[in-house]
Amino acid sequence: LRGKYIQAVAGAASEAGLEEVRLAALGKKGEISALMATLGKMDPEERKAAGAAMNSLRDEIDAALRARKAGLSDAALNERLQSEWLDVTLPGRPRPRGTIHPVSQVMEELTAIFADMGFAVAEGPQVESDWYNFDALNIPPEHPARQEHDTFFMHRADGDNRPPHVLRTHTSPVQIRAMMDQGVPLRVIAPGRVYRMDMDQTHTPMFHQVEGIAIDRDISMANLKWTLEEFCRAFFEVDKVELRFRASHFPFTEPSAEVDIRYSNVGGQLRIGEGDKWMEILGSGMMHPKVLQAAGVNPDEWQGFAFGMGIDRIAMLKYGIPDLRAFFESDLRWLRHYGFAA
Ligand code: PHE
Repeated sequence: LRGKYIQAVAGAASEAGLEEVRLAALGKKGEISALMATLGKMDPEERKAAGAAMNSLRDEIDAALRARKAGLSDAALNERLQSEWLDVTLPGRPRPRGTIHPVSQVMEELTAIFADMGFAVAEGPQVESDWYNFDALNIPPEHPARQEHDTFFMHRADGDNRPPHVLRTHTSPVQIRAMMDQGVPLRVIAPGRVYRMDMDQTHTPMFHQVEGIAIDRDISMANLKWTLEEFCRAFFEVDKVELRFRASHFPFTEPSAEVDIRYSNVGGQLRIGEGDKWMEILGSGMMHPKVLQAAGVNPDEWQGFAFGMGIDRIAMLKYGIPDLRAFFESDLRWLRHYGFAA
């Protein structure tokens, strides 16, 4: 019996197999337990001798079982350790990280710069009624400026009596909304998307503008000039910028000026504030009395300056990007080239 069980214990290949051996030997119905049950029927002399032998047999098998069990669980643990081995010193696998689109980044930058100068952010819808987009800005229906805007018109089904709507062609309708919502005095910028039917190297059908207005009792073109120069110095991170104010015409400002910024292009490297090139970056002027009036502001008491700047344009200048269309193609290689994606 001893030989049989010592061998069985040694042969058990798993903890479950070993448990079977234990039950067969020492379990309630086990062979050794059964043998020990015969002690009761022996006479005292016999029982003394046989009892001692059986006890030592039971203890020996029990010890062998325990030893084997410890061995098997060590082996199982080792096996797990082997299979779950992990080299924590290996370098991590790089994961692609999302980044902020250059235009969004520029919007955040310019919002922060204007915030420092006391401008809050105002918003308006991209699908705009033609009253806000045109009429209130002194562009009546028959005005030629409506044609120049290459407007996208919203389709209206037969019987739809809502006023005509367009995709806003500029951020200027937000001037009207901000005045009507907040009253005067007022200092806000309105960055956002605008739409015109136009497509070439420097035009896309959707692009971005930031509108800016400051209305108070003694606002002049001088305030406009200072504000734009301060903005450009902060945005382009240069000490010196040169802006050129060209007399122009917009129905919603009088007088009006288009503003160009001086830059150089040496082998594709753009520099602001030097060189002999000019890029138009915005339209501006003193808010027309009719515009103030349309929004319920008394032009005899209040004046304001207004400007509308091309965000994509200043982003191209700041980051030296020659083709506007690439901004909106979501080409990761392009974004990486300009450092906008990992
Ligand atoms: N809305 C004009 C444009 O889109 C820009 C502008 C804004 C001009 C404000 C003057 C004042 O061209």
